[in-house]
Amino acid sequence: MSLSRRDLITASALLLAGPAGALRAADQGAAAGGKPIVLCWNENPYGPSPAARLAVSRAIADGCRYPDDDEVDALEGALAAHEKIDADSIVTGTGSGELLRALGLLYGRDGAEIICAAPTYEELPKYAALRGAALKPVPVDAQLRHDLPAMAGAVTERTRAIYLCNPNNPTGTALPAAAVRAFVAALPEHVVTIVDEAYMDFTVGQDLRSVADLVQGKRRVVVLRTFSKIHGMAGLRFGYAITRPDLAETLEDTRMTTPNIYAVRAARASLDDKAFLADTRRRILASRTRITTELGRLGLKFAEPQGNFVFFDTGMPLERFTSLMQARNILVGRLFPPFATWCRITIGTEPEVASFLTALRAVKAA
Ligand SMILES: Cc1ncc(COP(=O)(O)O)c(C=O)c1O
Repeated sequence: MSLSRRDLITASALLLAGPAGALRAADQGAAAGGKPIVLCWNENPYGPSPAARLAVSRAIADGCRYPDDDEVDALEGALAAHEKIDADSIVTGTGSGELLRALGLLYGRDGAEIICAAPTYEELPKYAALRGAALKPVPVDAQLRHDLPAMAGAVTERTRAIYLCNPNNPTGTALPAAAVRAFVAALPEHVVTIVDEAYMDFTVGQDLRSVADLVQGKRRVVVLRTFSKIHGMAGLRFGYAITRPDLAETLEDTRMTTPNIYAVRAARASLDDKAFLADTRRRILASRTRITTELGRLGLKFAEPQGNFVFFDTGMPLERFTSLMQARNILVGRLFPPFATWCRITIGTEPEVASFLTALRAVKAA
């Protein structure tokens, strides 16, 4: 029997809770139909959109076929129109994670320096390290945002790439587009900037928007997007990169897989399902405000959340908080050093958020 990452997390959370906790969790799990409330992966529980669901069910009959080139071209064309860019600047991937890994392999070679925030999403740095890169993690600032001046200060002639995760996972904070633009403009020419905008659709605030148009500028820039978040298609695996045509070609040659027929059809359908996208955003933002309001009321610190998750200080070792939540059948995010007492909580459905807040109040009062 092979265990999935999820099985292992669930099992380790139960172990953390100890035998009594594990039993309680199992009891409560059984009472709630056996399924834990999963708030640890930054998934969007409202997806896939109705249009994407229909597209996937219709595509079943074509599961014996490779995705048609024309169909993939049409999807790339639609993505290019959406980004207001030429189609030869788009590279599709089996999730943006695959493209981040490919970029890590591509730019991490020969001991190159890769600069990233700490903490940040680790897919690219991890794969760059596999290739022998020298990682230069730069701690986030006091507001838990990327420390751009410190990142610029870390650049040397051996620096090959800088990874900006905007909004950042796990902290949730975002940089204004103007700050990213100024940062990129001031970099030496040999440095590539990789901007991961997985959560950009959930931002609220002045100038918190994509810098995809930078790929047409003088500096080398790669922007990444995913259908796992606002489109709610994490299990279908689809994402794409936007970059200069020559870099797009290199990236395309480096990826190991191509998106499957269900992902291609679902992505095409979801792109046009504007009602679903607007409704998802509205609901996630409303729940986000509900969570931060409650955190404020409970006197718990949090980083300004701009994604579909909230990073907050539990006020106790995270291991303990995790086990207390597990005992209430709720799975929360893992430890992100050095934030030993902080937890990342994904914004689930409204009832899931209500259950989380009830559990949080109980844990805080205990
Ligand atoms: C910042 C960030 N980028 C990229 C991804 C990868 O998304 P996917 O591979 O599902 O497209 C994630 C997933 O959680 C993420 O948090």
